[in-house]
Amino acid sequence: MEAQLQVGFYRDKCSAAESIVKNEVRKAFFKDMGIAPGLMRLHFHDCFVRGCDGSVLIDSTPKNVAEKDAPLNVITLRGTEVIDSAKARLEAQCKGVVSCADILAFATRDAVELAGGFSWAVLAGRRDGRVSNASETIDIPGPFSNLDQITQSFAKKGLTQEEMVALVGAHTIGRSHCLHFSDRLYNFSTSSSQDPSLEPLYASQLKLQCPRGRQGSVNPNLVVQMNLSPALMDSSYYADILLRRGLFKSDQALTTSLFTARQVKAYAVNGLLWQDDFVRAIMKMSQIDMMTGIDGEIRSNCRVINK
Ligand code: HEM
Repeated sequence: MEAQLQVGFYRDKCSAAESIVKNEVRKAFFKDMGIAPGLMRLHFHDCFVRGCDGSVLIDSTPKNVAEKDAPLNVITLRGTEVIDSAKARLEAQCKGVVSCADILAFATRDAVELAGGFSWAVLAGRRDGRVSNASETIDIPGPFSNLDQITQSFAKKGLTQEEMVALVGAHTIGRSHCLHFSDRLYNFSTSSSQDPSLEPLYASQLKLQCPRGRQGSVNPNLVVQMNLSPALMDSSYYADILLRRGLFKSDQALTTSLFTARQVKAYAVNGLLWQDDFVRAIMKMSQIDMMTGIDGEIRSNCRVINK
C-alpha cells in the first residue's frame, strides 16, 4: 500500500522535530522578517519542481547546475540557512530521520504563523529527492505570464484556478527585484512607455525605486517591497490589485477574468475567507507529487545528495 503523509509523523521517531524547526524559524525571523517570505517562496519553488522533495535546497556541483542556480532562483531565493540550522540540530538529536522536504513544509507553516498569526497542522512523511536540475524550473510560472499561462501551470500541478488565486496572496509579504517588473515601467510597448494596467502614481513610485542607469538598464540588485505592509501576512495584496497596484503582470492578470476578479474582490474585503482558502490551498500544494515510504532518501545535509 502506498504510504501517506500524516499529521504528527515524527511523534514517535523524533518528538521534538516540529518544535526544533519552529525555534530556528523564530530566531531567524526576529533577526530578519524577510525570512518568512523567503521560506514560503522556497517551499513553492520546491513543490513545483519534481514535487515537494527538497530538491530546491540542493547545491550545484561541478557536474550539475541545480534548481537554486536557475535564472529565476539565483540571487532571489532566501532562507536556506534556516533549513540548514534546523537540519543540523535535528541530525544531532535524531540522525537520519527528518527529511529536508518536511523541514521546509514545517518552516513555511511557522513563517506564516509569525507573519500572519494563522496556522495549520502540517502533514509530514515526505522523502527527499536525489535530483535537482536547473532546467526543470521551467515548471514555475514567471511574472510576465498572463492569466491563462498561470492557470495552466497550476493545473499541471493539480491545483485549480481558485486555489491559484488564493495561493498568490502569498505576495502580501516580501520583496521583488526590479527586473521582475521593470518592463512595465519603461519601453512597455510601441504605443505606451508604461503598462496602462499599472496605476500611474504607483508606477512613478516604482520608477524612483528602480531607476534606469546610463545604459538604460535597471540595476539587477535593486529590490522593492511587495506592498505597504511587506511583513504582515494579510489580504491587502488583493486590495492592491483592485487599485491596479499589482506589482507583476501576473498579479494584475487576476483581474482579467470576471471569475478571478470576483474572487479577488471577496478576499480584499474578507481576510478570514482568504486565510481559510489559503490554508486549504497550501496544504494541497505541499502534497504535490510527494515521495513517501522507501522512495528517495533522508538527506543528512539538505544541500547535498547522500553518497
Ligand atoms: C503566478 C504565480 C507566481 C509568480 C509568477 C510568482 C513570481 C514571483 C516573483 C517574480 C517574485 C520576486 C522574487 C524576487 O525578485 O526576489 C516572487 C516573490 C515571492 N513569491 Fe511568488 N510567484 C507566484 C506564486 C507564488 C506562490 C504560489 C507563492 C507561495 C505560496 C509565492 C510566494 C512568494 C513570496 C513569499 C515572495 C517574496 C519572496 C521574498 O521576499 O524573498 N509566489 N514571486
